[in-house]
Amino acid sequence: MKLFLDTASVTEIRTMWETGILDGVTTNPTLVAKEGRKFEDVLREVCALGVPSVSAEVVGTTTDLMLTEGRHLREIHPSIYVKVPMTAAGLKATKILASEGTRVNMTLVFSANQALLAAKVGAAYVSPFIGRLDDQGQDGMELIDDIVTIYENYDYATEVLVASVRHPVHVLEAAKIGADIATMPYAVMEKLVQHPLTDLGLARFLKDWEKVPKG
Ligand code: G3P
Repeated sequence: MKLFLDTASVTEIRTMWETGILDGVTTNPTLVAKEGRKFEDVLREVCALGVPSVSAEVVGTTTDLMLTEGRHLREIHPSIYVKVPMTAAGLKATKILASEGTRVNMTLVFSANQALLAAKVGAAYVSPFIGRLDDQGQDGMELIDDIVTIYENYDYATEVLVASVRHPVHVLEAAKIGADIATMPYAVMEKLVQHPLTDLGLARFLKDWEKVPKG
């Protein structure tokens, strides 16, 4: 399973990249706005680290605007995936961008039927937002289960990228279902590393090691 960071913070991305567990990065306009930096500068810095998959979202709402932005974004670096919203205009843009060889991440997906459409137009990734469904009282993980089943039924190549992840149990459940990717905030990825029994165990080992005769 691939683990992505959902952030536009180059500091966070660099720190996780150095651990060796990071497979990619997703951004969205909200995350980019938080950094107060030029989007293209952020993208270039992240790609220069060697991160193999970096999703950058278009903000135009017509097919023409999405195509113009998407073609521009993909030229920035070969690691860029163009993020396109799940709308009728977005489906049309995705079909064209995919036919040109651009890898598209279809975002703002909230139903299995939307995910089916993303696969039909050749999206490389589909991004269902599970946390936002949970917020509405709907089980987001059921959606992941449905999408994985549908994609397996028809052997679609589109990868399921679990987005709007809020805590480690989301990652665990997504992995058990067999989702291809989970993207998460830095704080959630940090929690995947930590366990209090690891810290306690290490402290005890180091303490006992002091009793071992040296020299
Ligand atoms: O990047 C898209 C998604 O992961 C957003 O998450 O927490 O704003 O619902 P959230």
